[in-house]
Amino acid sequence: MGIAVRPLGPEFGAEITGVDLAAPLAAETWAVIDEAFNRYAVLVFPGQPLDDEQQIAFSRHFGPLETSPEYAGSKKSRLKWPEIADISNLDPEGRVMSAEDKRLLFNRGNQLWHTDSSFKFVPARCSLLSAREIPPSGGETEFADLRAAYDALPEEKKRALDGLVVEHSIFRSREQIGFAEFNEEIRRELPPVPQLMVRRHPGSGRKTLYLASHASHVIGWPLEPGRALIEELIAFATEPRFVYRHRWSVGDLVMWDDRCTMHRGRPYDDTRHRRDMHRTTVSDELNTIEREREPWPRRGAGL
Ligand code: OGA
Ligand code: MN
Repeated sequence: MGIAVRPLGPEFGAEITGVDLAAPLAAETWAVIDEAFNRYAVLVFPGQPLDDEQQIAFSRHFGPLETSPEYAGSKKSRLKWPEIADISNLDPEGRVMSAEDKRLLFNRGNQLWHTDSSFKFVPARCSLLSAREIPPSGGETEFADLRAAYDALPEEKKRALDGLVVEHSIFRSREQIGFAEFNEEIRRELPPVPQLMVRRHPGSGRKTLYLASHASHVIGWPLEPGRALIEELIAFATEPRFVYRHRWSVGDLVMWDDRCTMHRGRPYDDTRHRRDMHRTTVSDELNTIEREREPWPRRGAGL
């Protein structure tokens, strides 16, 4: 049986079956995946029990991979590959972390609506999350369609947002959950960065909001009205009509487009049950402001 794409909603989310992501893929198979990704933004591949090397190899098709530093504390990483971000509640010895563990609190920041790495000058293009162990209940991941949310805004609002630049910072998102214990290295390496509030999604040419818990305020405005605008837009863009909720099974690989979606993890009993997810993150090539200066359509516009 060949590759099959089953939409999960009209224009957001699709399930892909009939493909083995651990094996080398034919050019036609890649074309189906790329096209579905550009159109649906969230792709669910059930039944793909990848190991880390296979996940890295599949992910590299989409571009260069980010490596993740240790944000909270300086303890040794549990996982061998710097390209794999540890999205788990496990300590370096593989045990469930205690309630006092700083890394547990830091990781709970993933339960705020966000897009990955918008706090980096060149943010993420897409992320791929592989479910290795899941809790008996809770721990779903929700995705919000920021292209549909943009389309649904009144024309007047769209005009008001055009050209606004927002400051993003990892310190802003973690401040919201009471985490401030970043080490010096992280403070030096992750200064606040500017990102467009509205951008054009390169894979589809559609306009999209670009929002995250990392978004702090509108540059050039007083702090409070900018914060209020960001909050209002996040609340709007995450109304149920724009959201797909993924209930995980072990072996699912889900990939999402960080340029036109937000996501959040849902709570679970994280001091009792194990949840082990491995993430690869593909970096974009340009900052959002630099990219917008490029003519559209670009030659060979694809991912
Ligand atoms: C992530 C993330 C949420 C979750 O991996 O980037 O935000 O449900 N994950 O684990
Ligand atoms: Mn994330």
